[in-house]
Amino acid sequence: MHFLLACLFVEKNLVLVEGVMMNHYIADSARLGKEIKVGGNTIIMDDAVIGNYCQIGNNVVIHPGTYIGDNVRIDDNTVIGKKPLTSPRSIFKTPQELKPAIIGANSQIGANVIIYAQCEIGESNMIADLATIRENVKIGDLNIIGRNVTIENYVQIGSRNKLETNCYITAYSEIEDYCFVGPCVATSNDNYMARDPERFNHFKGVTMKRGARIGVHATILPGIIIEEDACVAAGSVVTHNVPAGKVVLGSPARILRDVPEAQLLKNNLDKS
Ligand SMILES: CC(C)(COP(=O)(O)OP(=O)(O)OC[C@H]1O[C@@H](n2cnc3c(N)ncnc32)[C@H](O)[C@@H]1OP(=O)(O)O)[C@@H](O)C(=O)NCCC(=O)NCCS
Repeated sequence: MHFLLACLFVEKNLVLVEGVMMNHYIADSARLGKEIKVGGNTIIMDDAVIGNYCQIGNNVVIHPGTYIGDNVRIDDNTVIGKKPLTSPRSIFKTPQELKPAIIGANSQIGANVIIYAQCEIGESNMIADLATIRENVKIGDLNIIGRNVTIENYVQIGSRNKLETNCYITAYSEIEDYCFVGPCVATSNDNYMARDPERFNHFKGVTMKRGARIGVHATILPGIIIEEDACVAAGSVVTHNVPAGKVVLGSPARILRDVPEAQLLKNNLDKS
């Protein structure tokens, strides 16, 4: 029988999944909305808030104080509100007193996703299986975040972006609205590659202005700004800022031509 049909509404600490009674743990101080479904072995910790009509899978861990809006789906093995690790060799010490994660209403979160504490995720986002979103990340609404995407800490993402499978968004990056990041795109923030204290004066992620696009497997060097509606060809290595509305190509990427009129954002705005 289908998982969702087989789940009973939450009653104490037992749930029926495909005919089997399974344990889960819901802290007494957690606040649950109405008609929530919770799978086996799931843990909802102190002071977490789960909105109405949420569907939470098996083995999900929701850390203390996490806020989940109405009608959110969270699939198996996902962890929300995880605290970051810090190595004695880490150059930036991670504060352990982070605020709980926030997930906006109507979002869908796949299996084996990890969303860290102090992440603020807006409404109606789709976050596919295996994605990782580090602490201090802010994400707007209606984004598609593909399978195995990594978003590092201190990243800001606006609304209606598409981040395709396996892309890597380095720390201190900013992606505005309606941007496209192709599969396996790599962004970077440290030109000194972990040597020379001078690097701390130059440490900077990548900026994508509204409607910017990056093709599959391109590499974007630290601090690069890809201006509005600009387009990076597949496999390029981008070493200079990309002017608005231009296509750049190659390694190092050079201007090829203008983005065709039919591809400009103004002619392709989502109607939803
Ligand atoms: C940049 C791009 C948009 C150019 O498309 P286009 O205008 O149709 O260009 P053409 O196919 O006519 O190619 C023009 C020339 O550039 C070369 N070229 C095209 N794309 C290239 C690329 N990414 N890297 C190097 N050279 C490229 C072509 O070989 C051709 O050279 P030639 O005339 O010597 O054969 C396209 O090639 C591209 O990179 N698309 C991105 C695809 C992608 O990543 N999609 C998202 C994930 S599904």
